[in-house]
Amino acid sequence: MTDPRLLTLRRPDDWHVHLRDGAMLELAVAATARQFSRAIVMPNLVPPVTTRTAAVEYRERILAACPAEFEFTPLLTAYLTDTIDADEVAAGFEDGTFTACKLYPAGATTNSAAGVTDVRNIHPVLERMQSIGMPLLVHGEVVHGGVDVFDREAVFLESVLRPLVDRFPELKVVLEHITTEAAVDFVTAAPDNVAATITAHHLHIDRNALFDGGLRPHAYCLPVAKRREHLHALRRAAVSGNPKFFLGTDSAPHPQTAKESACGCAGIYSAPVALESYAQVFEEEGHLERLEAFASEHGPRFYGLPLNEGTMTLERAQQTVPESICQAGQTVVPFHAGETLTWRLREAAN
Ligand code: NCD
Ligand code: ZN
Repeated sequence: MTDPRLLTLRRPDDWHVHLRDGAMLELAVAATARQFSRAIVMPNLVPPVTTRTAAVEYRERILAACPAEFEFTPLLTAYLTDTIDADEVAAGFEDGTFTACKLYPAGATTNSAAGVTDVRNIHPVLERMQSIGMPLLVHGEVVHGGVDVFDREAVFLESVLRPLVDRFPELKVVLEHITTEAAVDFVTAAPDNVAATITAHHLHIDRNALFDGGLRPHAYCLPVAKRREHLHALRRAAVSGNPKFFLGTDSAPHPQTAKESACGCAGIYSAPVALESYAQVFEEEGHLERLEAFASEHGPRFYGLPLNEGTMTLERAQQTVPESICQAGQTVVPFHAGETLTWRLREAAN
């Protein structure tokens, strides 16, 4: 008989995370490596990761910052710019340096100033990626024309993503951190080479969280959380069992002072309790049995990577998430700060 207080899963991966660099790297890597076996690491550093050399050096810094008790494989991505070299990207994919390319529309989010100003500028790169099977990871928001911040994802789907998918029908595309029912519908209806990641925080909060009794900078991320009905659509998609939807935390730490500011940074730091947070959602939705596929199977299958061999266990035990975390000289406020969660990651026995 299985113990209902324990939930053992194939080791999961995080298909979208910000590990940062410099002072923040140690804290971010330790939290992700404790929870996940592999992670797709976002390249929005300053300067961005656009070459194999930069990626190889960044991977070394990540591995050097990783506590010895964790086995962790960072999967690096290339940051697409208007002028990025298609040969460099393709060579990086073929030699295993890059797992995918990330498209940031210029100005859409943190450290995206060097991003793509018009997707037409990277058509030759996308052509090449399509031909070698290299996935395109998309921050799906428009930034032009005064489009309302809450509509940016929905407008992107029709004005940028649909034409892109039509033009490159074989290109593997992951629409990252989806926040709208329109995105759920788009991905569901698209062919199998189009998938999406869903964050833990977008499964918990709607846009009211930003204004709950006052201005709440720790609920601010991009794409910004939407209305309640979208939260429900995301929850249905996550627990549906549909292999097009998989786990990507978008855990994005910023120093507490940079969040609690007159112009606070976008990003929610969910890595310390990511699985516990997802588990709570799957349980509330009555589909805890589908957590493993979402967290550990759909992602690697989409990327064409092997499933992890080991397991990890969550136990039904309350934990109160700290108000803030101070580590390696950094102070950050985690997602769920001060809340009590019903599941807890069981630390490895040795
Ligand atoms: C991310 C960051 O801080 O790097 N912020 C966020 O709100 N998600 C960038 C991103 O993924 O948009
Ligand atoms: Zn992100």
